[in-house]
Amino acid sequence: MSHPSLVTEDLTIRFGGHVAVNKVSCTFNPGELTVIVGPNGAGKTTYFNMISGQLPPSEGRVLKDGIDLTRMAPSARARHGVGRAFQLTNLFPKLTVLENIRLAVQAQEGAGRNFFTPVRRFTELTARAERYLEATRLEKVAHMTAAALPHGDQRKLEVALLMAMEPDIYMFDEPTAGMSLDHAPDVLDLIAEIKHDKSKTVLLVEHKMDVVRALADRIIVLHNGELIADGDPDEVMSSRIVREVYLGAAEETTA
Ligand SMILES: Nc1ncnc2c1ncn2[C@@H]1O[C@H](COP(=O)(O)OP(=O)(O)O)[C@@H](O)[C@H]1O
Ligand SMILES: [Mg+2]
Repeated sequence: MSHPSLVTEDLTIRFGGHVAVNKVSCTFNPGELTVIVGPNGAGKTTYFNMISGQLPPSEGRVLKDGIDLTRMAPSARARHGVGRAFQLTNLFPKLTVLENIRLAVQAQEGAGRNFFTPVRRFTELTARAERYLEATRLEKVAHMTAAALPHGDQRKLEVALLMAMEPDIYMFDEPTAGMSLDHAPDVLDLIAEIKHDKSKTVLLVEHKMDVVRALADRIIVLHNGELIADGDPDEVMSSRIVREVYLGAAEETTA
């Protein structure tokens, strides 16, 4: 509990002369869900990209359980337990939902040792796949192709595939964006369930204040690429600096 699972040290990236993320040092702990807020263009997605490996930082480091990931490709970081929903290049549009989940389970298992005979192994893989199918409430569409799913169910499938990877770090960047009101609560319930597993570290970029209030153990605020606040949700959201730079903008976008 007490030692951090993920650490960023002075994480910085420049695009030309523009510093999009500026010396962000932060630690994230198992059993903790941290919501990252900040106005559009604050650097939230860019910060995520440097953690998951889509963008190389100009300066600074990313550490997971003390291992330096900074120069690793996204796939290597995923093997070290850093999971991000859109990293799921292993989605096969023409396969069914269940087949997709089973392949993700198989890929995860392939990373470890395998003590089972082929038949036993297939049964085991299917059982695990069905567990994630149920966890994400996708049973009804289990035999639909991934390509045919409505948008909301596709987002749930992304979460199912992410869960099948069994990462230590879960990263969600506006997971309910563009989602209808009847699907959004399901995805948020899933994130709440992941958070209840005290070994997992969850990072969530989210604008909607009701979602933030319901899920956050901690809030960090980015503004112009800088970390300007970090702490208890109520204290952070009521602090003067956050009200000035963030709440005004948020109220416009969620209205
Ligand atoms: N690949 C890129 N090339 C140039 N500028 C970028 C790139 N990615 C992000 N930016 C810039 O970095 C800043 C932060 O963007 P972003 O991380 O997407 O913000 P947020 O997710 O908080 O809305 C913005 O000014 C954006 O235009
Ligand atoms: Mg963004």
